Amino acid sequence: MQKGAAEVLAGLYYRFFQFCRALTAPVKWRKLNPVYLDPYLSQAEKELFLSLDPITGCHSLRVAATIIKNYNRLPAEIDPVFAVKCALLHDIGKLASRPGIFLRVTAVLWRKLCRLFSRPVEKAPSFLGPKNQKKLRAYYRHAALGASLLAAKGGDPVLIWVVANHHTQLPPPPPTGAERAEALLRLLQEADRKN
Ligand SMILES: [Fe+2]
Repeated sequence: MQKGAAEVLAGLYYRFFQFCRALTAPVKWRKLNPVYLDPYLSQAEKELFLSLDPITGCHSLRVAATIIKNYNRLPAEIDPVFAVKCALLHDIGKLASRPGIFLRVTAVLWRKLCRLFSRPVEKAPSFLGPKNQKKLRAYYRHAALGASLLAAKGGDPVLIWVVANHHTQLPPPPPTGAERAEALLRLLQEADRKN
């Protein structure tokens, strides 16, 4: 019982912290000097990344910073620069929804309600209106949408696999010859949860 209450409190604290970060994200995003992205992203990837909404962009920068802090835990076969690229682009599928605070809060609450009543999240509540319903569905599908976007642009198969599975607990096998990519995915998932 005590553990349950502690978990609820920790969850509330995490959400409050996320909310505060979301409020300050537009200012931080405006201050970003794109030159810092040059070692990690191609020009086309940089343009995609800079099109993200400020909350997703700042979150991706924090995930990348956590990956850099954990360079020593990367498997030997994984290029650290490539790992940062994966971190920067892992939520690129959110370009389809460009979620603001309202959509994010709705998405969290709706997912909790759907879990409670065992119903699919894709059936978005009608009071949102067609436009927001479409955005909410795109938000929930951002991993797959990001992978499709990168695939359409001829992205690296490992990058596409990482983006497609960054919310998957039991991912399918990585592309042939990139078996160590699983360790990169676990590190990215850990960094994602922390940010
Ligand atoms: Fe994500």
